[in-house]
Amino acid sequence: MPDGQDKLQRSTTEDDITAAVLARFSATPDPRLRQIMLSLIKHLHEFVKEVELSEAEWFQAIEILTEAGKMCSDKRQEFILFSDTLGVSMVVDLIDHRKPAGATESTVFGPFHRLGAADMPAGGNIAHRDTVGIPTLVSGRVLDLDGRPIANAELDVWQAQTNGLYDSQDNNPGEWHMRGKFRTDSEGRYLLRTVVPVNYPIPSDGPVGAMLKATGRHPWRPAHIHFVLTADGYDPVTTHIFDRTDPYLESDAVFAVKESLICDFTRHDSPTPEAAKLGIIGPVCTAEFDFVLKPAGAVAQTNVHDAQHRLAALGAR
Ligand code: BEZ
Ligand code: FE
Repeated sequence: MPDGQDKLQRSTTEDDITAAVLARFSATPDPRLRQIMLSLIKHLHEFVKEVELSEAEWFQAIEILTEAGKMCSDKRQEFILFSDTLGVSMVVDLIDHRKPAGATESTVFGPFHRLGAADMPAGGNIAHRDTVGIPTLVSGRVLDLDGRPIANAELDVWQAQTNGLYDSQDNNPGEWHMRGKFRTDSEGRYLLRTVVPVNYPIPSDGPVGAMLKATGRHPWRPAHIHFVLTADGYDPVTTHIFDRTDPYLESDAVFAVKESLICDFTRHDSPTPEAAKLGIIGPVCTAEFDFVLKPAGAVAQTNVHDAQHRLAALGAR
C-alpha cells in the first residue's frame, strides 16, 4: 500500500461506518442524549448487519413508517400501536414504574384515554347509553402499602363499549361514553357501574395491522377496564383490571396482562342488594378489586396527564 494510503481508507467496511458514526455522536453535549444516541446507533447498526438488510427491505421499512405517520390523526396514533404491539411500551412501563411488593402494578396507557371525563358519584353509570351489556358493579378500596384506606383518591375510568369500540372511534366522537371519574369515600371505598367488558381488536387497518397479519399474529386484547389512580402524597398508577375468563389473556396483542391485575367478574341471575338499590333489574355482574398505592417518591412520577398532554401535542383529542 503506498505511503499515506491507509489514511484515505476510511469508512470502507460496515464496522468502519459504525465507528465513524459513533465517533461523530460522541461529542453530544448532553450526557443522557449522548448515551441514548450511542446505544441506538450501536444496536441499529448491529441489527442491520445481523439480518444483512437489503436496500429494498430498508425502503420498505421507510414506506411503512411514512404510512404510519400519514395515519396519525386526533383519533389514531399508529406509532403508539407499533410501540404497544412490539412490546416496547410494556418494557418502558416496567423500567419506569418499578413498584414495591404489594403495590398495584401498572400497565399500558393505550391510545384511547380522553382528558376531562365527568366527575361521577359513587355508583354512577359510565355505560348510560349501553342497552345490551350485562350491568356490572365494580367496587373495592384504594389502600396504602400498610392496608390503610386512602380517602378522596381519584379513579379515572375508561372502557370499550360492548361493540368493541371506544366512544372516540364510534360514529359520534363528540359524545362521551364509558368514561368517568370517581372518588373514594372516607374508608377508601369506590363503586362504579358499567357493563361487562368485552375483548376487542386493536385498530388493524394500517401498517400495524399489516405487520400483525404478515407475522401470523392476531390483534385482540382481552376484556379489561382502564384506570388511572391519583391521590395526594402517592404515586399515580395507570392500570387495567382484566376479566379472568377471557380467552385472550395469554396472547394480548400488546403484552399488557399481569397476573395481579386479573379479576373475577361474577354473574348473578338476580340483582344483589347493592344492584337493586341502584335500580338494576335482572342479571348483574360484580367485580371487586382493591388498588394499593405507594407513597410519592422524591422524583415525581409522570402521570396520565403528562402522557395525555404529550398525546394532545401529537394531535390526539
Ligand atoms: C387499549 O386498551 O385501549 C389499547 C392499548 C394498546 C393499544 C390499543 C388499545
Ligand atoms: Fe382498552
